[in-house]
Amino acid sequence: MSTLFRGKHLITFDDWTRQEINTVLDVSMDLKRRYALRERTILLPERTLFMIFFEQSTRTRNSMEAAMTQLGGHAHDLTVDKMQISHGESPRDTAKVLSRMGDGIAIRNCFHGIGNDYISEIARESDIPVISMQDDIYHPLQVIADLMTIQEYFGKDLKDIKIAVTWAYATSHAKPLSVPQSQALLFPRFGMDVVVAHPEEFPLQKNIVEKAKKNAAEGGGKLTIVHDMDEAVRDADIVIPKNWGGFGFFDHYVDDEEHNRIMKENLEKHKDWIYDERRLALSKPDMKLMHALPADRNKEVTDAVLDSEHAIIYDEAENRLHTARALLALTMGGRA
Ligand code: CP
Repeated sequence: MSTLFRGKHLITFDDWTRQEINTVLDVSMDLKRRYALRERTILLPERTLFMIFFEQSTRTRNSMEAAMTQLGGHAHDLTVDKMQISHGESPRDTAKVLSRMGDGIAIRNCFHGIGNDYISEIARESDIPVISMQDDIYHPLQVIADLMTIQEYFGKDLKDIKIAVTWAYATSHAKPLSVPQSQALLFPRFGMDVVVAHPEEFPLQKNIVEKAKKNAAEGGGKLTIVHDMDEAVRDADIVIPKNWGGFGFFDHYVDDEEHNRIMKENLEKHKDWIYDERRLALSKPDMKLMHALPADRNKEVTDAVLDSEHAIIYDEAENRLHTARALLALTMGGRA
């Protein structure tokens, strides 16, 4: 098992081995135990992380900033308007300059067709580790916290644990594909039986589904795509009811206005995709309800379910902190 993480970029866990991911989970659990005891964990003294947000965030921003404080370092909370990125400064110049001044760069850029390319370019040019805080394709910081939470409730042997990653109706905003895609890629590598459910108009990206199927074959898990929420949640151990935009529906260019109009029309056809008490009764009696948050309450999932004893959403959110601390400590301070 390798302990050499210093300098490693994290854009998707598809680039990391299962052994590396297991180390992250072990370190996260150790740091969580020490957090419960209020032990000091000054693993990154005087280190600086530059966090650049192109979009809003509650969990990612605060877990990463709190993580840096607790590790003895400091995080700059940057938005595009505070930087010369807003005047067109290149990814190369941004990466090179920040590399001379600190120890890590973390970026959230979820613009469809842009975010992953931007973060990947920064990573190619950077001399210090780059961590994606979510792009249009992947959300590694969410999915590692999800996996940690699942292991806390179901143990490390996840073979045949059925998890429904299901599209759900929402109106707050067109949510990126990155959370369900990261879950479809990672969970089958740990033996889980993953059922992704969505209306025909809201597919995941084809190349991601193909890769997720390959991961399932190699990891001993399963990946099934269905178009019926009832079928997905029936006998499920875990249900994740979450909206994503219909970005994968378009295989040809349509301008933004046309794109948004078609997505909205498609969205309004599927108001009945909500995880409610009727659907809860279809799942296993001791099922767990997960959600990356923020949730569109009473659209994606009813209050009655989200506030029930089935929901483990706040454990999932807390684990964002412990997994962030582990990843920062390993990539910015670990062994090289
Ligand atoms: N789940 C998640 O990434 O939340 P934020 O958008 O608040 O960071």
